[in-house]
Amino acid sequence: MAEPQHVPVLLEASLEYLNVRRGGVVVDATLGYAGHSSAIARRLGPEGKLIAFDRDEQAMARAKARLAALAEELGREMPTVEFVPRAFSEIAKVIEPRSLDGLLADFGMSSMQLDEAHRGFSFRADGPLDMRMDPRSELTAEQVVNQADEEDLANLIYEYGEERRSRRIARAVVRARPIQTTAELARVVSAAAPSMKGDKIHPATRTFQALRIRVNDELGEIQSLLKSAESLLKVGGRVVLISFHSLEDRLVKDKFKEAAKDGGLEVLTKKPVVASEEESLRNPRSRSAKLRAAEKIFVRRR
Ligand SMILES: C[S@@+](CC[C@H](N)C(=O)[O-])C[C@H]1O[C@@H](n2cnc3c(N)ncnc32)[C@H](O)[C@@H]1O
Repeated sequence: MAEPQHVPVLLEASLEYLNVRRGGVVVDATLGYAGHSSAIARRLGPEGKLIAFDRDEQAMARAKARLAALAEELGREMPTVEFVPRAFSEIAKVIEPRSLDGLLADFGMSSMQLDEAHRGFSFRADGPLDMRMDPRSELTAEQVVNQADEEDLANLIYEYGEERRSRRIARAVVRARPIQTTAELARVVSAAAPSMKGDKIHPATRTFQALRIRVNDELGEIQSLLKSAESLLKVGGRVVLISFHSLEDRLVKDKFKEAAKDGGLEVLTKKPVVASEEESLRNPRSRSAKLRAAEKIFVRRR
């Protein structure tokens, strides 16, 4: 198998805002290919602990191999690593309150998930309409595409895809059903809403984003994480969140604002941190990334 590729985004800023110290306890809620986690592990030292979540067990198996290689390299300097193959919405069931020095999440899918045609995330590679990050979950993109009624489909594409031509796309999809593969869906969407002058993205990008968000309940997952984050941090602990589209970023921004108003968190990023031109060229995935960070400043009495 070819070496998986996933380049961590905003790595330097993530480490700086997480303020990883030797002996710390840090959660990486989205292990992926352990890009961020490897850099965190190097800083934690032998008394430190890294707890890594990913709901994609295939991704986790690869990340485990990568971290095992790092452990060989670091020897006694390697921190303890605990793997949690669950959704990060379950974080409060696994992590003790006020126990974390740092919490990182780098939302969305990894380049590996996108590159593997059989996972069904990509309109560039033909595969089954799946899109599940966790293959144990029930809902697939194929079910949404073929079973949702036209109005629900249009609303979904409008809301989660921020696609203005959602009604036209939904009508075309319903007429073309059954649709079984990513390439078929991409063709139907592109014919219904072709690229317009100046468009920088593929015409199916927004529709695929909408389906992926729905299938994986991505916004619900983020809301659950945001609900628990503050209570899991020690005073002085940091939370660092990387979003890839405005729906995700808005949830983070609003939650931070609310927690800052209540006095529980201090927001460290007045504006979100974005990739430099150099990083955007080197890693196109970083172009839409926005990092926001906050520090817990006191323990609430509830
Ligand atoms: C963008 S990648 C993370 C990449 C990682 N930071 C790196 O540098 O290698 C996101 C990962 O988070 C996982 N993921 C996404 N949503 C999740 C959720 N709600 N719970 C657990 N894992 C999730 C995905 O399966 C994917 O492997």
